[in-house]
Amino acid sequence: MTTVEFLRSRHSIRRYTDHPLSEDVCRKLRASITMINTHEAGMHFELVCDDPSPFKGFRASYGMLHGVRNYIAVVVDTSFPDAIERAGFYSQKLVMEVVALGLGSCYVGGTFDAGRTKIMLRVGWKLLFIVAIGYAEERQQTWVSSLAMKMAHRNNRCADDFFVEAEGMSLDEAKSRLIWLDSGLRGLASAPSSLNRQPVRISPVWVSDGDGHKYLTVRAFLDNSNSDALVDLGIGKYNFGAAAVGEWNWGADACFIHLDSN
Ligand SMILES: Cc1cc2nc3c(=O)[nH]c(=O)nc-3n(C[C@H](O)[C@H](O)[C@H](O)COP(=O)(O)O)c2cc1C
Repeated sequence: MTTVEFLRSRHSIRRYTDHPLSEDVCRKLRASITMINTHEAGMHFELVCDDPSPFKGFRASYGMLHGVRNYIAVVVDTSFPDAIERAGFYSQKLVMEVVALGLGSCYVGGTFDAGRTKIMLRVGWKLLFIVAIGYAEERQQTWVSSLAMKMAHRNNRCADDFFVEAEGMSLDEAKSRLIWLDSGLRGLASAPSSLNRQPVRISPVWVSDGDGHKYLTVRAFLDNSNSDALVDLGIGKYNFGAAAVGEWNWGADACFIHLDSN
């Protein structure tokens, strides 16, 4: 399976069985979360198991989640630079680990009761959203939930639609100069986003390397109507970077650094 195929294999799962997470799964996820919390300033993610209480009373809302008992609480100290964008980036990294472990996941921004979570928030910390995780229930959906799924899934954009021409360069020209661009755009096209808005865009840009040389790369930014969607920016950057093989600087308009995989 290619990286793009792996990224595309993820979909939001909204119905879960009551099967508890195995000890092995919990250990692996906790280890990954510890790495993030240790190395990324301002990140205080936490895995919470067997706690359905934040979802009581939110049954008939956006996306309609059922049977959620395990989740990753994405807690950040927003006083650190780019904390919200980085929270999106590292959440998506964890979500892809969850996929690799054979579990389902769904970002949940608003349709839960933050006051009922078991999370201890210190001064300056904020619970941005949670990521529900668990074993997908294969039961057939009701027509109402399938309608909600379709609305949340209006995914008509193709990968090329995420490219915005700049520097007088067409998509074809940019793709011929940047052989990794096509993979990156396809990775980005499968990124989850709040209300499926998919607000991240990619444009070519010439960058100086400090020795007076200029090289071509891309920058990522949010489309005008979603300029505050920093979680989505981080998620989109993760998917683009995983598929195109490289790293991003943080912030809107920041540049991508392609890493030669040879
Ligand atoms: C920050 C964020 C918040 C979200 N909040 C919710 C939510 O509250 N309820 C829900 O059902 N889905 C939520 N989603 C999931 C999106 O609706 C979903 O990712 C999008 O429709 C694309 O579908 P896919 O994940 O299956 O590709 C959220 C996604 C993100 C990134």
